[in-house]
Amino acid sequence: MSTQDLPDLWERMAAFDPATATTEHTDDGLDDLLAAARQHCPAVRAHSGQHGEYVLVTSDALAREVGRDHTRFSARSGIGASNAAGIGNQSDPNCAPLFGQDPHLSSGDPLVDQVELRRRLQPLFTPRASRSWRVYAATLARMRARELVGRGQCEAVRELAHWIPAYIAGALLGVPRRDRPRYRTLATRFFADDASECDHAALYRYLREVLALRRDQPGQDAVSIVLAAGASEQQALEFAVLFSAAGTLTSGDSLATLLHWLACDHELQQQMRSHPDRLPALVDEAARLRGAVATSGRTVTSPTRLGDLELAAGEQVLVCWYAAGADPARHPEANQIRLDRRPRDHSGWGAGAHRCLGQHIAQTTIASILGATLEILPAFAVDPAVSAPRRTFGQLSGLDQLPLIWAPPAD
Ligand code: HEM
Repeated sequence: MSTQDLPDLWERMAAFDPATATTEHTDDGLDDLLAAARQHCPAVRAHSGQHGEYVLVTSDALAREVGRDHTRFSARSGIGASNAAGIGNQSDPNCAPLFGQDPHLSSGDPLVDQVELRRRLQPLFTPRASRSWRVYAATLARMRARELVGRGQCEAVRELAHWIPAYIAGALLGVPRRDRPRYRTLATRFFADDASECDHAALYRYLREVLALRRDQPGQDAVSIVLAAGASEQQALEFAVLFSAAGTLTSGDSLATLLHWLACDHELQQQMRSHPDRLPALVDEAARLRGAVATSGRTVTSPTRLGDLELAAGEQVLVCWYAAGADPARHPEANQIRLDRRPRDHSGWGAGAHRCLGQHIAQTTIASILGATLEILPAFAVDPAVSAPRRTFGQLSGLDQLPLIWAPPAD
């Protein structure tokens, strides 16, 4: 079947506009649409209201091909999550640190060279270093769940899922413990859909304080590492904003998805209460099937072929990790949550040189947060009296709201 047999694909795709930062669109029919694109035209020219024409990639094989071949597909791009992470960048808005640089363009300068910067940051992100955040993540989640439990209800996207990851991202960045509630508030406002210039300026002002502190008192944190590499004030600030986005929004969206799964499936919730050791596998399934980083942008560097398409240098490519994770050609029973997938090899964490640096931290801390939440909150469900949660979809993917209810414990 050719793309002409799907005449309304572009129009419907534009209605979701995955190339833009907005998260106001929801998933009515989105999964079917992406499945149709994946089956009939896994690389296809689509159109975005804001960015014009781009090539949408939906199959696992082509997503990996684009992610892995950075000589043909540059990560310096005007669309996708990598671009959104460059928000407010003065040096190059299309070029967030790490995301926007290509491994083969090695310059030997750790601030420009993606491979070198990743190498320096790596000790913070190893599986072992990631495990050291378990206790902190669980303690925060227990405190938060205890604050909520007596109410018998909460709006779990705002009050739970997006509450805790900012504390962990702040700690990784080098934000002192006493300031983490303030950092959480500022980062939440900065990334809100209706954020103002004032909200942007407020986070920047606070991050400058962190930079000054870490220049005076370096620690084992990401800001200290970047400063030690010789970053200017502006470079370090842009890096801190990237980390704030990568560390808070993604984990918050993933937690929202997982709480929704647990609230809708009581058997699954019960299984996780009895076997919390299965939570990391569940977190990984959420990354595969409902990847929080829904799309990443790339730019074609020289004329090339992708699937059935001939691409010209300069064309924008939007890799939809979200669609690739549900590709039945790669994952049997792709739409089912299965905790026994072996190997757990999917592209929800990306593919190639820009693959997620924070994967182990995300997996460990999200599993710890869920485990501690299940310890404190009794069996919970989605509140049927409030409008049903809707999936948000743009560069990131999560839920617009998640009203949960449970039976509050007797005093
Ligand atoms: C469930 C949570 C998360 C998911 C699903 C996720 C997913 C991804 C994906 C798909 C990419 C590849 C982007 C591309 O190729 O353009 C990526 C890159 C990245 N992620 Fe994550 N991520 C998560 C959490 C985190 C956390 C918690 C951190 C840091 C604390 C983090 C830091 C990064 C960084 C720095 C990159 C860019 C790496 C580079 O360009 O070299 N991520 N992530």
